[in-house]
Amino acid sequence: MIAVFGAGAIGCWVGGRLAAGGAEVTLIGRARVMDELAGGLTISELDGPTRTVRVTATTDPAAAASAAITLVTVKSAQTAEAGATLARVLSDGATVVSLQNGVRNAEVLRAALPGRRVLAGMVPWNVVRRDRGAYHRGTSSTLMIEDAPAGRPLLEAARAAGLPMVARGDMPAVQWAKLIMNLNNAINALSGIPLAQELAQRGYRTVLAAAQREALALCALARQPIAKLTPAPPTWMPRVLELPDRIFALAARRMLAIDPLARSSMWDDLEAKRPTEIDHLQGEVVALATQLGRTAPVNAALVRLVREAEGGGRRDFTADELRARLT
Ligand SMILES: NC(=O)c1ccc[n+]([C@@H]2O[C@H](COP(=O)([O-])OP(=O)(O)OC[C@H]3O[C@@H](n4cnc5c(N)ncnc54)[C@H](OP(=O)(O)O)[C@@H]3O)[C@@H](O)[C@H]2O)c1
Repeated sequence: MIAVFGAGAIGCWVGGRLAAGGAEVTLIGRARVMDELAGGLTISELDGPTRTVRVTATTDPAAAASAAITLVTVKSAQTAEAGATLARVLSDGATVVSLQNGVRNAEVLRAALPGRRVLAGMVPWNVVRRDRGAYHRGTSSTLMIEDAPAGRPLLEAARAAGLPMVARGDMPAVQWAKLIMNLNNAINALSGIPLAQELAQRGYRTVLAAAQREALALCALARQPIAKLTPAPPTWMPRVLELPDRIFALAARRMLAIDPLARSSMWDDLEAKRPTEIDHLQGEVVALATQLGRTAPVNAALVRLVREAEGGGRRDFTADELRARLT
């Protein structure tokens, strides 16, 4: 059995997709989320079928006790608490896979879960809740997990479900590459508009380019490799982002092949008045700068603006306004 701990957007979608492929899946989450699944879990995807599946949905963490694999899909700020809860129920030798953004979640889970095998994962796509018990994947790409024998049953379940998933021997580089792409989460959340509209505007893209350039320079200094997850190498991304709109639309067709309604999960968090993952995204760049005795002014300014938005501040910045706030 595969358990999903902290089933929200990612957990319900991945769990539902694996269940649709024949895996036995138990979702563990909040009552408000689990109650919606009583009539079935509906999962849809860009250019793909819509399916409704039956899954076991519960609020009881003990349901993970008999799981061979537990996927952790809570937001990064809740990872330590999730680890402490799972430590009370998971048996020795159980496998835990972090399907979360950020670069530290697997490490946090490992510290909380001695005797269990914890693997890092990377979810490349965007999922939103569209309706009661209905989750939609707005982009498509290949899910990645740390290469280890313990991950094979999950790879098997994904293969049976037709869900692209690969094992990687360089997860820190993969996670940093994803983090650098995710620097757009804050910019999207502060723009107040869907991702497709935001990325179509050079003004917002130049803010993202500046944040990425800063992060890439610090990673180079720290000798932190960055995996190539896009057709262009990561170091080219800032220049691609700065292209004029029409040329960018041609050069980055894949990046823009995105559901017109999709927004970043940081936008969702602000909308729901939840704390965001800013400390685990831009905050990691600022922390790396501090560790290296440098500064990261663009990312630090974005951290400040998101903090203000968490406190009820503005989140409808035009690109020009955002750029002005970074200098
Ligand atoms: N959504 C996306 O498109 C996307 C894409 C790629 C990666 N990611 C990453 O995937 C991770 C999960 O994101 P998400 O969007 O799926 O978040 P989400 O929708 O907020 O789902 C997480 C769920 O876990 C619940 N939870 C937290 N602690 C719990 C606990 N101790 N017991 C039971 N339930 C608990 C949360 O409830 P409360 O809200 O009540 O705490 C929430 O319902 C994040 O790291 C995110 O950055 C998300």
